[in-house]
Amino acid sequence: MTRSLFRAFAILALGALSSPLGAQNVPEPEAEAPPAFARDFTRHAVAADQPIASQVGAEILEAGGNAADAAAATMLALGVVNPASSGMGGGGFLLYYKASDQSLTFLDFRERAPAASSASMYDDVPNPGEGPAARASQLGGLASGVPGEPAGIDMMVTRFGALPLETVVAPSVKLAEDGFPMTAYVTRMTGPFGAQMREDDVMREWFASEQGPIEPGTVVRRPTLGRTLRAFGERGAQAIYDGPIAREIVSRNRARGGIFTAQDLRDYEVVEREPLSADHFGLRFVTAPPPSAGGYTMLQSLAILDGLPERYRPRTPGSNANAGWLHAVAESWKGPFFDRQRYFGDPDHVSLPIAQMLSADRVAARISAFHPTLAMPSADYDLPIRLDERVTQPDNTGTSHLCVVDGEGNIASVTTTVNLPFGARYTAAGIVMNDEMDDFARAVGEANAFGLVGGAPNLPGPGRRPVSTMSPTIVFDADGPRLCAGAAGGSRIVTAIQQVAMNTLLLDMPLGDALSAPRIHHQGTPNQLRVEEFAPLPEEVQRELRARGHVIEPIRNVAVVQAIRLGRGDEPAITAGCDPRKGGLPAGR
Ligand code: DON
Repeated sequence: MTRSLFRAFAILALGALSSPLGAQNVPEPEAEAPPAFARDFTRHAVAADQPIASQVGAEILEAGGNAADAAAATMLALGVVNPASSGMGGGGFLLYYKASDQSLTFLDFRERAPAASSASMYDDVPNPGEGPAARASQLGGLASGVPGEPAGIDMMVTRFGALPLETVVAPSVKLAEDGFPMTAYVTRMTGPFGAQMREDDVMREWFASEQGPIEPGTVVRRPTLGRTLRAFGERGAQAIYDGPIAREIVSRNRARGGIFTAQDLRDYEVVEREPLSADHFGLRFVTAPPPSAGGYTMLQSLAILDGLPERYRPRTPGSNANAGWLHAVAESWKGPFFDRQRYFGDPDHVSLPIAQMLSADRVAARISAFHPTLAMPSADYDLPIRLDERVTQPDNTGTSHLCVVDGEGNIASVTTTVNLPFGARYTAAGIVMNDEMDDFARAVGEANAFGLVGGAPNLPGPGRRPVSTMSPTIVFDADGPRLCAGAAGGSRIVTAIQQVAMNTLLLDMPLGDALSAPRIHHQGTPNQLRVEEFAPLPEEVQRELRARGHVIEPIRNVAVVQAIRLGRGDEPAITAGCDPRKGGLPAGR
């Protein structure tokens, strides 16, 4: 979508939205000014990748909710207005900063493999359908993990929130029942998956006719989902994991070839984990631990970059367009992505000595493999480590990020996903069921939808969580929180977050520029340096990178980042930014 088309639609979407909470004191965007994807606020802000969802979060803040309430309400609204990217049938991660005691909590509500899953469950299984993303780990019942989103939202609100769950859910019930304007993004996403989606009776309603999609701006309702959300608001996660909704989830999963049981749903548990953190460039980066490999990738890359001489940093303040810097950044990702292939799995089932993997010796070895003017083969950065064999022996065996800052200084950084667009492309109780099983290795050495090659530790097994790249992050300086950031975009999640954080915090770019600047991506395998069509890197920079030996491949974009920057000195107190690559708008006061 062009920038002007996106703006025109964003105005339409905001104009058509009646306030779901009925709050009167949320400022409307100024009539003449085009809505800005990065805006300054003085009190609180929400940055989601969808304008209505940001607005719902801001209204919850106005209604006395805190960052946890607002993040939960925003997640729920996203599941209604953009079921392609996230919702109750998926899962995610929360990194929460509580200002009163400066504590950081990481909640892992990622999907789990059902008890009947096994390392060989995809061997010789034919594709259950035709068209894009049609493997058994991507489409239909065998593609779904047991959803974690309902338990995650329930825990966020009951543990950290200030409002009753029912109040937090209410705006989404209203959106689902009264309707909201269809967005251009969702209409575009229904295109390639139309034939698969029409197999499902609820998704069939998401088209205007056999031939055509629903035009953006048309008011649509999701009544079945509305009923499910109402039950969730009244009875919490219990309403989804037990009783009639749970029975429907199991039966719809099995009708599509899945292996869910009622016990799988009853057994679902959120896991609280210690976030990963490290100090680099005078800042503390706090981010996602395993089963995400994203946080590890970011911290090792930052350690390598921090260990390189100062001359590698761009000398032009406010710009990242510097071949020497981008070369160093791309090279720094090759080693950690290599580690991911070989070692990463569910940390509750495999041994993952993260401290050893991030050790100064290993970082130094990778710095010595770095060549300032040559792109090295990824294998040159390979550094095998000895693992504890007792634990590591395998038993042979669509996403959205949002940031919320509230008036007390609490911060919620949430990434939520159903994996590929519209998950496994079937619904239960109006909920889009995820295809998170594709984040496991279907077999050792096989690549998932994002080209990430999986190793034995990431084979599916009962109750396991697949390796993720989702990396909700908060960066601190000596005075406290400085940046909340996260992204959607598969393997590109982490490289995108890191670039936006470095752009704004190390290269002094205003948040809007840091978000819209050209990004690159390298994940070791394949040996390609990705540049964006959305924000093309200047031709002379590309030429210099090719001269170093990089194989440059353009792709549509490198992930979708939402971020909130907290000001210092004369800077605005809060700047909230939504990636122009997807069309979100921030909201707040
Ligand atoms: O957990 C992960 O890393 C993936 N399931 C994320 C998928 C994703 O970001 C899809 N895209 N927007």
